[in-house]
Amino acid sequence: MKSWREDQRKAGEHVDPADVAAVEAAGIDLDPPTPADRLRDHDHDHDHDGGAPHDHPGDPAGSHDHDHAHPHEHSEPGEPPLIGIVGAGAVGLALGVALTRAGWPIAAVASRDKARRERFRSWVPGTRAFAEATALLDEVELVILTVPDDALPSVAGSLHLYSGQALIHTSGLLGADVLAPAMAAGTQVGAFHPLVAFADTERAVAALHGATIAIEGDDQLAGLLARMAEAIGGMPVRLAPGSKAAYHAAAVLAAGGIVALLDAIAELGRVAGLDEAGSLAVYTPLIRQTLGNAASIGIRDALTGPMTRGDAGTVRAHLAELAADAPDVLELYRVLARRELALAEQRGTLAPDEVTRLRGALANPA
Ligand SMILES: NC(=O)c1ccc[n+]([C@@H]2O[C@H](COP(=O)([O-])OP(=O)(O)OC[C@H]3O[C@@H](n4cnc5c(N)ncnc54)[C@H](OP(=O)(O)O)[C@@H]3O)[C@@H](O)[C@H]2O)c1
Repeated sequence: MKSWREDQRKAGEHVDPADVAAVEAAGIDLDPPTPADRLRDHDHDHDHDGGAPHDHPGDPAGSHDHDHAHPHEHSEPGEPPLIGIVGAGAVGLALGVALTRAGWPIAAVASRDKARRERFRSWVPGTRAFAEATALLDEVELVILTVPDDALPSVAGSLHLYSGQALIHTSGLLGADVLAPAMAAGTQVGAFHPLVAFADTERAVAALHGATIAIEGDDQLAGLLARMAEAIGGMPVRLAPGSKAAYHAAAVLAAGGIVALLDAIAELGRVAGLDEAGSLAVYTPLIRQTLGNAASIGIRDALTGPMTRGDAGTVRAHLAELAADAPDVLELYRVLARRELALAEQRGTLAPDEVTRLRGALANPA
């Protein structure tokens, strides 16, 4: 069985051994099973003589032991599965573009919004577009739900998979079990979470190259999803059971948290006379340098600034300035400074009285 690393080497792509070691050290399985069998291989439960299109037996949600057979469309042996995307938002569109460019075409998209359907079809020509997710089920073998996390239970509850189909979502938080209401005999559910900030379509498609993609599903589906991840340049991993919430919270800090920090930096930049572009031009090199330091010497040793020197007077001056001209940033500065102080203490270079003075300055910003 080939690993993703062998595939990457074969493809001549650059995999930084340090990245691999770091991901493995975090307990992440970098070698999810490759497909011993394709999802669409016809040795599993496809019943082409089953019910007529739209002949949903109306099984109660969560009942999986019925065979919901249906002559839905099938791909040719050796071809990627027929893929449908439900939800033409940021992730749905970018995944649609990336998969199509990688030779995994999107057969159908479902979006309740006409403008989003048209936008999807302009980026991914040749895709059939539906307003209803249920209509898309007749066209595809693998359904990717790219709807908000909170909508997943209700959307899954409105779908009844046909035997041989698989349903996955792209949530970083929720498990595949949230899709269970859509299951019938011979169906599978899973998850496919790219660790990418889907703000701009082209940039997101580019960022999928080298991105970690957390996959979930039984071995057969996970194998297919690993190949799909590799096809768009991603690095498929399987997370330890129960770790998804922490993994996703870290991702939210790494994306939205950094944006919130940038916003605070820009607010202080405005006080100093810089517009947003000016702040980004001034502070981005410092941010890059800090990231580079953390990558090469570790997070703790990358810390610089007044906390490492015991400069309580500097901290007091900052807090006074924030209270006067940027009160919205005051609490954020204090919360982060406490974490910086803890890191500085771990280094063991601050004298006890310096730690006391810094703690006092942070406790009494007035
Ligand atoms: N954004 C990211 O950076 C990111 C990264 C990784 C994973 N994810 C995950 O990817 C999923 C989608 O996120 P997104 O950022 O693409 O969201 P989004 O841009 O808000 O798009 C969501 C899509 O789902 C459809 N939708 C919204 N509410 C719905 C409902 N109640 N029922 C059915 N469809 C509904 C929307 O409407 P239409 O049907 O009208 O099109 C829209 O097209 C989420 O699970 C998210 O956690 C996001």
